[in-house]
Formats: sequence, C-alpha cells, structure tokens
Amino acid sequence: ASSINLAVIPGDGIGPEVIAEAVKVLEKAVAAEGVTLEQTHYKLGAQHWLETGETLPDEVLADLRTRDAILFGAVGAAPGDTRIPSGIIEREMLLKLRFSLDHYVNLRPSRLYGTVGSPLANPGAIDFIVVREGTEGPYVGNGGTLRGGTPHEVATEVSLNTAHGVERVVRDAFRRASERPRKHVTLVHKHNVLVFAGHLWKRTVEAVAREFPEVTHDYLHIDAATIFMVTDPSRFDVIVTDNLFGDILTDLAAAVTGGIGLAASGNINMDRTAPSMFEPVHGSAPDIAGQQKADPTAAILSAVLLLDHLGYTTAARKIEAAVVADVENRDGKPRSTAAIGDAIAAAL
Ligand code: NAD
Ligand code: IPM
Ligand code: MN
Repeated sequence: ASSINLAVIPGDGIGPEVIAEAVKVLEKAVAAEGVTLEQTHYKLGAQHWLETGETLPDEVLADLRTRDAILFGAVGAAPGDTRIPSGIIEREMLLKLRFSLDHYVNLRPSRLYGTVGSPLANPGAIDFIVVREGTEGPYVGNGGTLRGGTPHEVATEVSLNTAHGVERVVRDAFRRASERPRKHVTLVHKHNVLVFAGHLWKRTVEAVAREFPEVTHDYLHIDAATIFMVTDPSRFDVIVTDNLFGDILTDLAAAVTGGIGLAASGNINMDRTAPSMFEPVHGSAPDIAGQQKADPTAAILSAVLLLDHLGYTTAARKIEAAVVADVENRDGKPRSTAAIGDAIAAAL
C-alpha cells in the first residue's frame, strides 16, 4: 500500500507538543518505505469545548470512521479549572471514541530499556503487555444519583461486564501470549470481593485457556498485583484485566519502566470494523504544558503501535530501534520536546 489516511487529534495541553514530534517521526519513517502520510487534523478537546461547546459531534465521528487510524495526543483541563466540569471531555469525547469505534483491546506495553529510567533498585528485565478491556467496566456511565445535594444523596456507578466483552478481550490476551516467548497470562481482578464480575472473568479465562494449551496462566487480585508490579515486575508477561484496574495498573507500570513519558497505548478494534486509535497513556499534563518539557517518546511509541496495526512493520521496527537507542543513551540532561523528536527522527 502506498498511503496512510491518518486522523490526527492533538488535543489539549502537551497533546499538540508531543503529537508534532510523533508526526515528524512517523512521516519520515514511512516516506523511507515509499508510503505517503495523508493527514487530517481535528480540533477537539477541552479548549475546543470552551470555544464552541462541542465535545464530539456525530458528523466528526462519522468522518473519523473513514480514516485508516487515529493518532491522539491527550485531552482534558487542569484539575483546578472550574470552567469545565470534570469528565465532560473525557467521557463525551475520549470514551465516546473508544466505545463508538469498539476499541475493545486497550493495549499497553511496558518495557524497561536499560536500567537508567526505573526508580526500582533491582528492576530486572521488564517486558510485559497489559491487555486492558476498553469498552466496558465502570466506565460505561451506568449509574446515577438520587436526592442530590442532600445528606441522603445516593450515587451509583455500576460496572458493566458482558460475556461477549470479557471473552473477546481474554481471547486476545491468550493469542498475544501464544506469540510471545514466555506464553503466560495473568488475570488481574478482585474476585474475592467483586464476585459477580470477578467470577465471570475467572470462568472466562479458564474456558479460553483450554483453546491455548501452550499458554500458562495465573491470577492475582489487583491489590497484590500492585505489590508485584513494584517488587517483581519481571514476573509479568501478558496481563489481562478490566477497564478500571487496567487504567490504574498501567500508570504504575509506566512509573516502574522509566516514567509516564515513555508509555504508549493502542485502543484497538481487532475486528477492524472501525479505525483504531493510538495515544500515549499520559494526559494533557497542564503543569508542564506549553513549555516544551514533555517527553514525546510515549506518543512516538504509540505511532509504532499504529504502524504495527496497519502492517507497516519495517517502519515500526526502525522507529522502535531509534527510540531504544535514544532512551538508552540518555544522560539525565533535560532536552526539549522537539529536541527529543529531532534526535529520534535523525536516527531513523
Ligand atoms: P497527566 O498524565 O496529564 O499528568 C500526570 C503527571 O505526569 C504530571 O506531573 C505531568 O507533568 C506528567 N507527565 C505526563 N505526561 C508527560 C510527558 N509526556 N512527559 C513528562 N511528564 C509527563 O495526568 P493528570 O494530571 O491526572 O491529568 C491531566 C488531565 O489530563 C486531566 O484533565 C485528565 O482527565 C486528562 N487525562 C487525559 C488522558 C487522555 O487524553 N488519554 C489520560 C490521562 C489524563
Ligand atoms: C487513560 C486516561 C483515561 C482513562 C481517562 C482520561 C478517561 O486516564 O487513557 O488512561 O481512564 O482511560
Ligand atoms: Mn489513565
């Protein structure tokens, strides 16, 4: 194929800064393979909402569906910004995209390049992926309040878990494990307390495991998983978990593998009925926005996941190698967002 029809959503805060570098690197890497990058940029996010009152209009969503893939920066206002009620952009834009485009596999790889970046004294060889469910769980907005503002207020936020939704993501985790050297899946949940959803996940893992006799599996409660993520992260190969546990665990995984500035993710529709979306794990980082302080590596590695998804594996491996070399050779001196992007692009 000779061209990629790419949607770019830079978003808010550091989003546009890191996306500029990811696009720079992506363009150069695919050009070397004779592939052109056709870009359509979309103005969406908290700033756009302040200017227009729009979150994600249906026409924009329909337009996004016509693209091969989406490269996404980050959205969201600063926590103290009272002009935007918390959650509007996150739910009506970001989660609406993930749900509408059926991004059921939220793939979040964690790898430690060298030992320079880890806060752990003995991190070991860390190389695992988290397969986080992306369309269900407590994220679906299945809740409400009664008697709001009174001393008797009631608030519910009910986690949604369907047999179909759990099974497809568990099967994806086992398939990915079957293609990795260690071939191991760890289910992370909390079935000692969350017995209804927990048992559905547990039973599903046991059933799907029978289809993959070469893959071993075990189980950890989420609280214990956070211990091992810090004391023995090299034990993990493929972690499969629900939407909320996966959100929390992947920020921790990022922290132990060199920081949130390196953590990439893909929101993947494995059935390819809609474009998948690739974005750094981090948010809009209002505390450092506009200062060229953000590390664009997470966004660049998200572009690698995008290329892999579209089948451009040669370009993907080249960017990945350039990123690894850049990260392993860091000396701790601060560099601007653009300087990091330039260095990685130059090394291609
Ligand atoms: P955050 O990830 O934006 O920031 C957490 C900390 O990590 C901050 O100190 C920030 O400076 C640092 N950080 C983040 N990315 C970095 C990078 N590339 N390089 C260096 N440092 C980096 O999380 P938050 O502060 O909880 O959220 C800020 C806003 O972003 C909120 O509105 C939140 O809802 C939103 N958010 C959006 C996404 C997304 O768009 N996918 C993800 C998480 C949070
Ligand atoms: C992430 C973010 C989002 C999530 C928020 C902003 C909706 O934290 O991508 O990890 O919880 O999935
Ligand atoms: Mn998160």
